[in-house]
Amino acid sequence: MCGIVGYIGNKNAVPVVINGLRRLEYRGYDSAGIAVMNGDLKLVKCKGKVADLEAKMGDSVEESTIGIGHTRWATHGEPNDVNAHPHLSNNGEIVLIHNGIIENYGSLKSALISRGFEFHSDTDTEVLVNLIEDVKSSEKTTLAQAIKIALNQVVGAYAIAVFDISNNDQIVVAKKGSPLVVGIGEGEYFIASDATPFLEFTKKAVYLEDDEMAIINRGQDIEVLSIPDNRVIDHYVHQLEMDLASIEKGGYEHFMLKEIYEQPKSIGDTLRGRLLPEQGLIQMDGIYQFQEKLVNANRIIILGCGTSWHAGLVAEYMFEDLARIPVEVEYASEFRYRNPIITEKDVVIAISQSGETADTLAAIKLAKERGATIFGVCNVVGSSIARETHAGAYTHAGPEIGVASTKAFTSQVAVLALMAIKIAHKKGLLKESYYHRLLSELHEIPNKIERMLKSDSQSKFIAETFKDAPNFLYLGRGYNFPVALEGALKLKEISYIHAEGYPAAEMKHGPIALIDENMPVVVIAPKSGQYEKIVSNIQEVKAREGKVIAIVSEGDSEIAQMADYVIEVEDTMEVFSPLLTTIPLQLLSYHIAVMRGCNVDQPRNLAKSVTVE
Ligand code: AGP
Repeated sequence: MCGIVGYIGNKNAVPVVINGLRRLEYRGYDSAGIAVMNGDLKLVKCKGKVADLEAKMGDSVEESTIGIGHTRWATHGEPNDVNAHPHLSNNGEIVLIHNGIIENYGSLKSALISRGFEFHSDTDTEVLVNLIEDVKSSEKTTLAQAIKIALNQVVGAYAIAVFDISNNDQIVVAKKGSPLVVGIGEGEYFIASDATPFLEFTKKAVYLEDDEMAIINRGQDIEVLSIPDNRVIDHYVHQLEMDLASIEKGGYEHFMLKEIYEQPKSIGDTLRGRLLPEQGLIQMDGIYQFQEKLVNANRIIILGCGTSWHAGLVAEYMFEDLARIPVEVEYASEFRYRNPIITEKDVVIAISQSGETADTLAAIKLAKERGATIFGVCNVVGSSIARETHAGAYTHAGPEIGVASTKAFTSQVAVLALMAIKIAHKKGLLKESYYHRLLSELHEIPNKIERMLKSDSQSKFIAETFKDAPNFLYLGRGYNFPVALEGALKLKEISYIHAEGYPAAEMKHGPIALIDENMPVVVIAPKSGQYEKIVSNIQEVKAREGKVIAIVSEGDSEIAQMADYVIEVEDTMEVFSPLLTTIPLQLLSYHIAVMRGCNVDQPRNLAKSVTVE
């Protein structure tokens, strides 16, 4: 997956494109490139980040009122200067940026080679730009028509922006499977993978749907067409609600830290207007229409990847425990290639921060084909998954820029908790007093996190002690088993330390062999839940001289005596404990990564949303 940016209007396109690329670096940062026109074409690209591109550009890229740029996460071809976008067609006239994968690029490439085309990169994108050139010259047609004809031959996913050096007044964009939004300003247009690159310029945006293209002519109205049949589409102009402050660091050293500290607010935003403890109500308009489906569901299948899958595991405990509905939590990437048994009485909940994860999207499509009703739990409004599902609830966590997911996870858990409690109550499974306690306790969670975040000196101290450890083990039971997985994932992805999450009781079936005096073992052991059992697990670790870092409830003196280090979290009901126990694990991995000199917000090999298989 990659980020694409474009501009056509009356401003200088260069800073617009470069700043836009910086905001999209979360989508990939292997290489970057820019192409602008000022009489001649100026195209600069290189391996590395947008900062490397800027250094390479120096003063060589002059002002221009048309430009496109790209930040890459490599799929076809290693990250190097040649494979970086934009790509140029053989005759040097057509310039193209692409986010996605052209699956049939091999056969298209062979056909183009047989017609005399040469290729310089290993990318599928270079095939597409030459295919467009081939169609344009052989059919003697316009750029837009050539793009349309070429795309009808393409199998795969794309969001592209293209211009022809003979026409300074036009950019053509098209989309299938990868996101693309056009910002509409006063006499100017912005093109991007999401709206963040142009927020300071306009709040008006057109989100292209799959199989749509737009012809953007300077100073004229945008024309949106259907690619398969050339039909003109009446496009809808969205009014964006996001503001600039929400996508800036706001004084924090890293986005990840900002996002960890934002959690009292982000969870508060998730619950706002939905959780009404004084009225004893949970209101979720997004799922209202299909609520009965959930109440009568034979089974819930939860789909997601990475951290979103971990939120799904927490939800499994919630839905089974409270609403007594059997739940299966599946990696979307596995589910989509199995031959899963799905009936109309099954309800699928798809969880995704970005709403663009390719595997989750494909798994949803499969479940839909087989008759399931699909609820989406997404953060990004208007994202592909949000649009593909029958109903759903946005998490409203605000933009998450750090590649390691933090506030999105806790907001996902909060939304899923609302859903589970609502369905359980509707099914008459909760005693009224217990139901009211659940509502008021969930309402208190943001305040508890706020107080917990007042000091993180203990997680910093522990980070300093263990920052050079080569391995970590994370153990939890029940609701906190998924938290162990999430804690281990956070550490792995940003500090490159190998870490494993395990259900604490499984330790003795294998991982216990790893424990010696060098092994830090993070045990999530709040008072709620299977406390006595986990105390025994801690003793098993101590008996083998492992170093125990325990996440405990405030004032827990029993574990404090056994563990080497403790971090206290406020007390809450077991069902909500993941919302609190996750916080110190996020901070611990953050501090360790910073102390190891890692790039916290842009860890190697990763990207924020994985829009390829
Ligand atoms: C989280 O820290 C990861 N970077 C990653 O596992 C992520 O959760 C996963 O790719 C799923 O993304 P999504 O929620 O946007 O679908």
